[in-house]
Amino acid sequence: PLAPTGELVAHAATERHSVTAFNVITLEHAEGIITGAEAAERPVILQISENAVRYHKGQLRPLALAAASMARSSTVEIALHLDHVTDVELLHQAADCGFSSVMFDAGALPYAENVSATASAARWAHDAGLWLEAELGYVGGKPDAPTSAHTAGVRTDPAEAADYVARTGVDALAVAVGSSHAMTERSATLDQSLIERLREAVPVPLVLHGSSGVPDGELRSAVRAGIVKINIGTALNISLTRVVRDTLHSLPALTDPRKYLGPARDAVAATVHTTLTMLAH
Ligand code: G3H
Ligand code: ZN
Repeated sequence: PLAPTGELVAHAATERHSVTAFNVITLEHAEGIITGAEAAERPVILQISENAVRYHKGQLRPLALAAASMARSSTVEIALHLDHVTDVELLHQAADCGFSSVMFDAGALPYAENVSATASAARWAHDAGLWLEAELGYVGGKPDAPTSAHTAGVRTDPAEAADYVARTGVDALAVAVGSSHAMTERSATLDQSLIERLREAVPVPLVLHGSSGVPDGELRSAVRAGIVKINIGTALNISLTRVVRDTLHSLPALTDPRKYLGPARDAVAATVHTTLTMLAH
């Protein structure tokens, strides 16, 4: 069934557990993620990013409604989350597309501007019945990353994080603790003691972005230290693309996309299953 993000996150937080949000770019991503979650018997969050919406010609509804429809017929609880939104117009479309939550991304703005933009996004979201995540302490690695005020080495300051959450009213906070977006090797080292200090300073659940680059042991420690929502995108694309490449290479006469997208979707399911099983133990 379709479940609210806020409920899945709150439940994970009380159990000192985590809930994983996987990025959806195509229908095959959503199908693979749901198959993997059902095999692991774990709830999961499907997240569609602003970048994925841009890829789909700026259209949010087709992919979102398809993902919501798949979620409704799933045997596990599935939430739908709109990720890394910078465009307020897009934010406002979330309300009638099956989303229960949004990540409003003002992480690249200077502090005072981040606070005021996020506070007004949170007010709108709560009026619309949506759970809102925001980011403080820019997690680098996105393609259009700014280079000046915030770089990948930046860390979230606990005192500033407490002030930020109090002034914006957000429901969850994405923090910069050593991960970076779009890493294709799992070599990130997280500042585990900073995660603990952030958990003590901040009254809302903490979110880790760029989790594809984080090794299993570091991820599990991060959950023990206080991370509740784990965002994974690139790891699925590595699995998916490897199978497409290998299949087309070994069968050069192939033309039916189902013959390479099908096995690629299975690879996404396997990666989701492995990840959820690893995090459950
Ligand atoms: O919001 C999405 C995540 O931060 C994904 O990051 O692609 O590096 O796993 P990743
Ligand atoms: Zn992210």
